[in-house]
Amino acid sequence: MKLEDLKPQINTIISDGTLAVDQKLYNICKILEENISYYDWVGFYFKNGDKNELKLGPYVGEPTDHVIIPFGKGICGQVALSNQNFVVPDVTLQENYIACSITVKAEIVIPIFKNGENIGQIDIDSKTIDPFTESDEQFLEFVCEKVSQIL
Ligand code: SME
Repeated sequence: MKLEDLKPQINTIISDGTLAVDQKLYNICKILEENISYYDWVGFYFKNGDKNELKLGPYVGEPTDHVIIPFGKGICGQVALSNQNFVVPDVTLQENYIACSITVKAEIVIPIFKNGENIGQIDIDSKTIDPFTESDEQFLEFVCEKVSQIL
């Protein structure tokens, strides 16, 4: 499945008037995890109220202990502060990394902006080493922009 081919399905979920926001976010995780072979855990984290921490939102994949992540900690916490995409080809080479499972080899985190403010992120773990390209970044930026519209 090509990433581009998933855009219409993302659009359909976003504009579905019968679904609650969390259901939409979950459905997006599911579409991504099911259709892209190297996306093994797909989830959303959002800023937890006015605290400097992230809280886990809808996700698909193995349950994680990391429901709350302080800003600055791990790949997710760093993206909360940097406002930049973070692509990790090999997690063993990262010092500031929170391991969710020993099977994870790579990770990509893309921030979500609402009115210019970094309000959360999509986080994807892969069991494949170095799987993410510029195409993944562009596609996930598209997903984050769409998600921003329903938040
Ligand atoms: N590995 C992440 C933690 C979240 S789990 O991947 C679900 C990190 O370093 O921030």
